[in-house]
Amino acid sequence: MAKVNGNYLELPGSYLFSTIGKKVREYAAANPDAKILYLGIGDVTQPIAPEVIGALHAAVDEMGHAGTFRGYAPDLGYEFLRNVIAEKDFRDRGCDVLAEEIFVSDGAKCDCGNIQEIFSVDNKVAVCDPVYPVYVDSNVMAGRAGHYDPATGRFSNVIYMPCTAQNGFVPELPKEVPDLIYLCFPNNPTGAVISKDRLQEWVDYANKNGAVILYDAAYESYISSPGIPHSIYECEGAKDCAIEFRSFSKTAGFTGLRLGFTVIPRQLKAEGISLWSLWARRHGTKYNGAPYIIQRAGEAVYSEAGRQQVREQIAYYMGNAHYICEGLREAGYEVSGGINAPYIWLRTPGEMTSWDFFDKLLTEANVVGTPGSGFGPSGEHYFRLTAFGTRETTIEAVERMKKM
Ligand SMILES: Cc1ncc(COP(=O)(O)O)c(C=O)c1O
Repeated sequence: MAKVNGNYLELPGSYLFSTIGKKVREYAAANPDAKILYLGIGDVTQPIAPEVIGALHAAVDEMGHAGTFRGYAPDLGYEFLRNVIAEKDFRDRGCDVLAEEIFVSDGAKCDCGNIQEIFSVDNKVAVCDPVYPVYVDSNVMAGRAGHYDPATGRFSNVIYMPCTAQNGFVPELPKEVPDLIYLCFPNNPTGAVISKDRLQEWVDYANKNGAVILYDAAYESYISSPGIPHSIYECEGAKDCAIEFRSFSKTAGFTGLRLGFTVIPRQLKAEGISLWSLWARRHGTKYNGAPYIIQRAGEAVYSEAGRQQVREQIAYYMGNAHYICEGLREAGYEVSGGINAPYIWLRTPGEMTSWDFFDKLLTEANVVGTPGSGFGPSGEHYFRLTAFGTRETTIEAVERMKKM
């Protein structure tokens, strides 16, 4: 008789965005004239840059000719893409990352969800609270998280590192030493960033304790302030303790095209075993490569024209972020994030719960955001807005919120 993976039964409730979707659908059905504005889910709205579209067309044409047709991609990604990533994303920033240390994939969600497979189920995991839910849920599915306690909103075998206004939304080094540490900067959901000195402390801590840092840099391209590290490999010793995830989704609007990559240094080991080799083995067995045409599109992001065009898109979204932050501050809200990240983290007024504020915003302003408590208990009394809307939607949403 077939049996299910009982670990899945430990997962609480429905996924945050399904709950939001259901509430919004119900409201829209009851109020068919309401013009609902979405500043909730982190999906982009600007079309793919012309340089990237050109590369896609050219690659599609190649697929139609016997001489240039491509079948399965190399397991770890095409050289043309891995080389340009190593050069532009890392070596140009002084990080000693080799093309062979880059594993091309169809996005960071899969990679940061799957990476835990190469580690023993006995590892103790530490996550920020609030957190991008994939890190916790993928460890629950693997049986590493223990049991969920609805009273605390926490799993019994996970170390939660609160990120609060008091610590500037950057976690402190945990007293109980974890084996695997998930960090994400610029952060989803808080929009916070980490200084190079603070990140260096984490790298030193991981090296001292034999821990591995799983560093999600999906929003790296939104950093504009000096002194903020774009990659964990800017820190000394990071190649001995860190894996880094990157995504083209928010950098270049690839949420629908799908492209990302993971960096695993050759020298990174756990119990003396190369993590590069384990991930290469996993990739070879369970993954057949991102499509050729999408990898060509990714390459075009690094061309001079491509870089300029995606920079303009990012500036557009950060213009939205600025508008939201300023508008809400004017309206009396306590707001953070939105400077080096496309997320704005606001404190709910008058100690309202995150879900009460969600309902108020939906019914009074017809604006949809994301309740902070959906990202973890320390997100209670907070609310996330994204800068990924169009300028018109963003302006209208802020004006409506000002009038609430
Ligand atoms: C922190 C973080 N990591 C990873 C991802 C997923 O990126 P991708 O679209 O490449 O799967 C997201 C997407 O919202 C994210 O917020």
